[in-house]
Amino acid sequence: MLETIKNRRSNAYVLDKPLASKDLEQIIEAACWAPTHHKTQPWKFVVYEAEGRKKLTDLYVAAVEKQKDRLDAQTYKQRLEKARGAAYRAPVVIAVSCLVGRSELKNPPAWEDEAATAAAIQNMLLTAESLGIASYWRTGWFTELEDVRKAYGLEASDRIMGYIYLGYKDPDKPEPIRPTPKVSEKVEYVK
Ligand SMILES: Cc1cc2nc3c(=O)[nH]c(=O)nc-3n(C[C@H](O)[C@H](O)[C@H](O)COP(=O)(O)O)c2cc1C
Repeated sequence: MLETIKNRRSNAYVLDKPLASKDLEQIIEAACWAPTHHKTQPWKFVVYEAEGRKKLTDLYVAAVEKQKDRLDAQTYKQRLEKARGAAYRAPVVIAVSCLVGRSELKNPPAWEDEAATAAAIQNMLLTAESLGIASYWRTGWFTELEDVRKAYGLEASDRIMGYIYLGYKDPDKPEPIRPTPKVSEKVEYVK
């Protein structure tokens, strides 16, 4: 497990090789085993693969076009360009949302549902790594687009936690170097 944790990098993927369904299913299954306070399991996944990525592209583009009057010309142009290409940066893109306060029994504070969903995402990234699949967790303004939120049926308190890009590792792309963390600076042991 520690080796898998250490080896996971946000990295590039083979673009023209779809993910096998069994691999994708394992990744989603792993997400659903994350710890969750009051067992709310607040996550929701929308998986875009193959031609499905056009649907995500259309969503992005329409949402950015709606912002035209609110953005300066250069930002609008940049966003539109990014919106058109973003979903094609990997064979699979998974939108991960956190639905807050939906339990009919007891709900934790919103941050705990978000923390649980982040744990679910880490389960996905590590399972991907164990299957030879590169992953990339991305957020930014894509997670704030109101029309995209609406398309997922999100309410004001819900959050898009990010888009997880997945694809088999590209053997020609070296893993990015990550400096060894200074663990001792991050911990205090009390005995
Ligand atoms: C909550 C979260 C949001 C992130 N959003 C982005 C993003 O929008 N764009 C990006 O390039 N990387 C994003 N990343 C990935 C980080 O840049 C990456 O994890 C970091 O550089 C460490 O590299 P590693 O994942 O290879 O260890 C995000 C990571 C997290 C945890």
